[in-house]
Formats: sequence, C-alpha cells, structure tokens
Amino acid sequence: MSAPSLDSICEPISVDLAAVEKKLSEKSASQYDFVDSAVQHVVQGGGKRLRPILLLLSAKACGHEGEDAHTLAAVVELIHVASLVHDDVLDEAPRRRGRETLHSKWGNKVAVLVGDYLHARVLSMLVDRHAEDPAMAILARTTQAMCEGEVIHAYKSGDFDISTDDYLKIINLKTGELITASCAMGAIIGTREEKIIQGVTEYGKAVGAAFQIIDDLLDFEADEEKFGKEPFNDLREGKLTYPIIHLRGVCTTEESRQLELIFNSKVDEEESIEWIESLLLRYEIQPHCRCIAREYADRAKSALTALPESPAKEALGHLADFGASREW
Ligand code: FPP
Ligand code: MG
Repeated sequence: MSAPSLDSICEPISVDLAAVEKKLSEKSASQYDFVDSAVQHVVQGGGKRLRPILLLLSAKACGHEGEDAHTLAAVVELIHVASLVHDDVLDEAPRRRGRETLHSKWGNKVAVLVGDYLHARVLSMLVDRHAEDPAMAILARTTQAMCEGEVIHAYKSGDFDISTDDYLKIINLKTGELITASCAMGAIIGTREEKIIQGVTEYGKAVGAAFQIIDDLLDFEADEEKFGKEPFNDLREGKLTYPIIHLRGVCTTEESRQLELIFNSKVDEEESIEWIESLLLRYEIQPHCRCIAREYADRAKSALTALPESPAKEALGHLADFGASREW
C-alpha cells in the first residue's frame, strides 16, 4: 500500500498551517524594501514545511490547540531557512528548489546577513512568547548543534574514508536535531507527561534519520525539473552520504579504489556518473537504503505508543511512512 500524500497527512492541521504561513510572512517582514525582497525570496522559497508540520502534529497529538504552536512552528521554519541560506553559501550551490539561491542572486554578503537577520527575528519571537517552557533553551542548544554539525561536515568534506558513525553523527547534528526539537517542543506545549514527551522526541529522532537517508538517496535521482537541483550534488561537493558509504563497504576493492579516484577528482563527467549509477544498481543500494529508512520509520511509529489515539497521532504515523517512501 502506498503512503498517503503529504497533503492528506496535513488534513488535521490545514487551518494551523495557513496560520503559520501568515505568521511566517508577517514575522519575517522587514520595513526596508530590499531587505524584505531578499528575505521573502527564501522564506517563500517553496519548502515542504516539514518542521512546522511535525511541530503542529506533535502539539495537536499531545492536546495543544492554539496560537503558541503557530509561533513555534514559524520559529523552527525560520531557523531552517536561515540555515539553508548559509549552507548554500558554504556549498556554493547555484540553485535550491528550482530557484536561484540567495547568494547567487545577491552575493555572499547579503546571504550571510539575511541568515543572521532571520536568526534575530527568531530570538524576538521567542522573547515575545513570555512562556515558561524550555523552548528557548532547546532552540539555543539545537542551533549550536546545527553549527557544530556543519563545521564537522566542512572539516570532513573530501574524506573518502569517513565512517558510518561519523556520517550519522553529522546528519544527526545538522538535520536531526532541529527535526527532533520541532517534535519535542510540540509535545512540551501540549502535555506535562514525561513519558509522552519522551516518546514524541524519540519519534522525531527516528523520523529525522528516515528523511535524511531518503534525501541522500534522492540526490542520485534528482532531476532539475523535479527537485530544482542537479543529481550527484553531494558527491560534487565532496560529501560522502549514506548510499555511497554503504556502497564503499560492499563493492570490490578495485571498484572502491575507482570510486575514490572519481570522488577525489570530483564527479562531473557523464561517464563517471553512469558508472556509479550502474554500481548503485548492481549492489542494490536503493532498496537497501529504503529498507533502512523503513526501519527508522517503524521505530518512529513505535515510539508513539504512549500517545492517546487521535487523527494527529495517526497523521504522525503516516508522516513517518511518507518520510521513508517519498520520491521527492
Ligand atoms: C543542508 O545540508 C544544511 C543543513 C540541514 C543545516 C545547515 C546548518 C548551518 C549552516 C548552521 C546553522 C546556521 C543557522 C543560521 C541556524 P545539505 O547540504 O546536506 O543538504 P542540501 O542538499 O539540502 O543542501
Ligand atoms: Mg547543501
């Protein structure tokens, strides 16, 4: 049975998502025209809004109804957008989601500063909440972890021998922590029951891993039209991701040496790409990665057992399935 679409998963929070969109444009707006066009270029950049969706569903599944979830959902999305703006500078990426990246359009200076600006907006939004829950502390820790993840990734970039553990540590810091924080904060504003908060946090960790492994896989399948970026981008950037790390371990020594040579000279020749594609096929890397992502999705769903039944809990389950089976 195929996983439900993202739109149908979001049914229980459709009104909330519209409120978050409104908050995103209102809270990120700048009174200065140029600043505002640069900011809106990225805030309205066509993302899936995965983190707000996770936060809203987690909050609803834990009994929270109200505007505070909208604020926190907008906050996690703004942190995510800011981090991508900086990530694209680091990666020198020309396009994201089919659009020019901010630094390609207006230069590195504007991009770095727009990332900082969004971050400042996040701080103001958190201060305005006057809430006593630990959202501020969680997000301070999360942002630190994201920066640490990017630093380690930059340091390890170009390292063909990176271990699976190092790789998992990096993706957990870079991507997993914000996804986990989104779920945890949703739970915290909805309930005081420690067992439930812990379950939803576990769910977030596992869902983050499932999404990331599929992200890595889709990098090999990406076409400009569907994803707004070229395939094999990670390898071009000198990043070994889960599929190649696994391939490296199962292919012959000769193939691994050849892979390393291609990796070191950076992949750009058609022929090299075709050769790697044939290896990925021969060693059944795609079904293997899908299977690992599936395991994470199942782990995520099991973590929700303490939660009372509700449409939002069901949607969280479907979202985990979507994360493991998605094609985009
Ligand atoms: C995308 O990774 C990047 C991230 C998920 C996190 C980036 C984090 C920072 C730049 C540090 C934190 C900065 C702020 C302002 C909070 P990727 O390059 O693997 O994925 P991609 O293919 O989508 O670019
Ligand atoms: Mg990147």
